[in-house]
Amino acid sequence: MPDRYAVIGNPIAHSKSPLIHAAFARQTGQDLTYGRILGHAEDFREEVRRFFADGGRGLNVTVPFKERAWALADERGPRAETAGAVNTLIPLSEGRLRGDNTDGVGLVRDLEENNGFSFKGKRVLLLGAGGASRGVVRPLLETGLKALVIGNRTAAKALDLAASAVTLGPVRGCGLSDLGVIVNGGFDLIVNGTSAGLSGEVPALPGGCLAPGGWTYDMLYGDQPTAFCRWGASRGAARVLDGLGMLVEQAAESFWLWRGLRPSTAPVIAMLRGHKTGIVP
Ligand code: ATR
Repeated sequence: MPDRYAVIGNPIAHSKSPLIHAAFARQTGQDLTYGRILGHAEDFREEVRRFFADGGRGLNVTVPFKERAWALADERGPRAETAGAVNTLIPLSEGRLRGDNTDGVGLVRDLEENNGFSFKGKRVLLLGAGGASRGVVRPLLETGLKALVIGNRTAAKALDLAASAVTLGPVRGCGLSDLGVIVNGGFDLIVNGTSAGLSGEVPALPGGCLAPGGWTYDMLYGDQPTAFCRWGASRGAARVLDGLGMLVEQAAESFWLWRGLRPSTAPVIAMLRGHKTGIVP
């Protein structure tokens, strides 16, 4: 019997994770299956426990259950702890579960390894202070960047998120309208972690936010350029990236946690670029 893995979320039909993990398994010669589970808020804990009781070997967790998965994990790694969210569950002995979060490392690897971005000495702006942003703060601060500013429409949430990570590195929070005065000369990288793009919007940013030669990165992706990617291109960003590479890299890190093998991500990203998608987080 092949080892069984799955992703649980709601909705789940659009998830690319089965395609990605099937490609990883083929590439590395692993005998496994990877399915989709439609989860339900009221039964989530039971659905997860049942999957593992039936012999499941690992579960990815997606919207809207990452915080619930954090709460049910019996132990958690530091990345999950800072994120307050778990996207990867790993079975331990006696039915216990370990929770980890691979989203942030996925973002950092896509930037550094796939696209050659160097964080050293860079000033980075992270837009949004919801779950998507919280998931990436710790790995961003671990890159050795010069400054991380979290800018959010609701300033108080950005201040809270920055305060929760202040021991990890040079981070501060502010409202979007305060950004203009914070970094003279603009940011070297602007990462969009807001959900504004799901309704075709872009966070309202003051002029001069993007430094000359700066990059933009949208954690969303789609078969058409996202609203934030279009914004980056219109502001003359040197590189405009969407979140497809992050999606594949977070999957690769989960695969590593489960199987102890690192698949090559480039051919899988290339394969997915050939598939039609909507704009998805
Ligand atoms: P997620 O878990 O996907 O991050 P969330 O927790 O609901 O979702 O957070 C959504 C984020 O996108 C928030 O930071 C939100 O800003 P507020 O905290 O001010 O609500 C941000 N956001 C959503 N729509 C936005 C818009 N049109 N402009 C700017 N920010 C927006």
